[in-house]
Amino acid sequence: MQTSSWWRQSVIYQVYIRSYADGNGDGTGDLAGLRSKLDYLKQLGVDALWINPWYASPLNDGGYDVSDYRTIDPRFGDVDEAEQFIAEAHQRGIKVIADLVPNHTSNEHEWFVEALEAGPGSPARDRYIFRAGKGTDGSQPPSNWEAVFGGPAWEQIDDGEWYLHIFDVSQPDLNWEHPEVRAEFESIFRFWLDRGIDGFRVDVAHGMVKDTTFPDIEKRTELLETDAGGIEIENNGSHPHWDRDGVHEINRSWRKILDEYDNRMMVAEAWVHPDRLPLYLRPDEYQQSFNFELLETPWLASAFRDVIDRSVRAATEVGATSSWVLSNHDVMRHATRYGLPNGTPWRKWPAEGPYDILDVELGARRARVAAMITLSLPGATYVYQGEELGLPEVWDLPEDVLDDPMWERSNHTEKGRDGCRVPIPWNVDGPSFGFGTGEPWLPQPETFAALSAEAQDGDPGSTLNLYRRAIALRREHLVSTEEIELTDLDLGADVLSYLRGDVTIIANMGATPISLPDGEVLLASSPVTAELPADSAVWLRLD
Ligand code: GLC
Repeated sequence: MQTSSWWRQSVIYQVYIRSYADGNGDGTGDLAGLRSKLDYLKQLGVDALWINPWYASPLNDGGYDVSDYRTIDPRFGDVDEAEQFIAEAHQRGIKVIADLVPNHTSNEHEWFVEALEAGPGSPARDRYIFRAGKGTDGSQPPSNWEAVFGGPAWEQIDDGEWYLHIFDVSQPDLNWEHPEVRAEFESIFRFWLDRGIDGFRVDVAHGMVKDTTFPDIEKRTELLETDAGGIEIENNGSHPHWDRDGVHEINRSWRKILDEYDNRMMVAEAWVHPDRLPLYLRPDEYQQSFNFELLETPWLASAFRDVIDRSVRAATEVGATSSWVLSNHDVMRHATRYGLPNGTPWRKWPAEGPYDILDVELGARRARVAAMITLSLPGATYVYQGEELGLPEVWDLPEDVLDDPMWERSNHTEKGRDGCRVPIPWNVDGPSFGFGTGEPWLPQPETFAALSAEAQDGDPGSTLNLYRRAIALRREHLVSTEEIELTDLDLGADVLSYLRGDVTIIANMGATPISLPDGEVLLASSPVTAELPADSAVWLRLD
């Protein structure tokens, strides 16, 4: 089939649909709201949208608990409207990537309901991972595995059997050894491809295959972490449920289906050791696998340089490009992360946020630099909704509105991921800053007024206009080549610089200004003279 490889150097905008724009006034974002923002997205200049799960779901985990993969949740719209949305995006030259969740279903999925009713030893149970417990009375879980959101990964049901849930108790893991499970997902792939979807973001792409002997785990490794932050994670495929070699066979079976269609792609959410990431990018597997390393990298020019160098090499070796990520719906927004001193733990968001050490202005300033870096690197760049507005993490959501299962499962020690999911402010005024007419499902802080799209639209110095201009310049100057040359312009250890085509990117990540080489400034993150101030970046054409 024909392939244009449109994804290799695209800007892909992530829409957390629940928080994007609410068209029907029920406080939850939906397809109607999203459709009304397509012109905004066109003006921003993005190539594609990735929509977080929109399927029927109890929304226990924001839609990553799917009860029916072939319907759209009525709160978001329906399948006809999804098709209409895809067509309207395509009319504007924007591709659409759906989110697929194959590791687990919701406990309200008909297969799981059937499995509970059918009882031990039944074929229906075999689609999931049910086991007898340990101990003479089976009262101990089959293994010591822990759930990502806290607590044990096994739940006992009334008849004594236990089922595995690597995430929330409402998200039972599917049994990927079962041919029916494989066939069902191949059919779901085709269902959405036939409706015009241009690709899939595959959730927990490194988790489907388990060691079916269920050995105890001696050393706990987190899911949403890679190795860049100095966290030790397995790099040899020996973990009993993460990144096992068996997933690659599943990847290949999906790639075969994609390749029956024109120009379709898939991107893996695989939080694996950087050495193992290229395995997912082999020519018969994924076209992309998120590169999460930068979001774990401290604000240091040398550290950024190392990650960029290593990532570009690794992707090139397997014929792919890298896919850069600074923020998403699972991590603290980078405008806040960069306002914390290097080394501050930010993954586990404590119930009391460390406001006293947060420098909001610095974070916002650095976030603009980071965007000018990721938008100028070779490969695909993912932009998480609201980062183009410089939105910060909302640290201080009251406990009674918290929705992330992590809050309950951690016994209220970790606040979870709601702070990066607060509904988008579109307007300066209005009950929810133009998000919708109803009360938004999470409250927005007053500071959102000044950060709204409306407030930033006409301001040439706004973050929104920086993104618009960067994306336009990128298209004009940066995507004709996949080459990057990491340069040393003798500007000091705090400076990251590289050449893309005829554009030199210079980021001063240090605390003192540097002299700029002579040249034409195409774009700057803050006003520049002959000097580039601290925490600032430029795109330059050198004389
Ligand atoms: C992925 C999603 C996250 C979800 C989890 C379980 O990591 O990005 O939001 O909670 O998978 O599906």
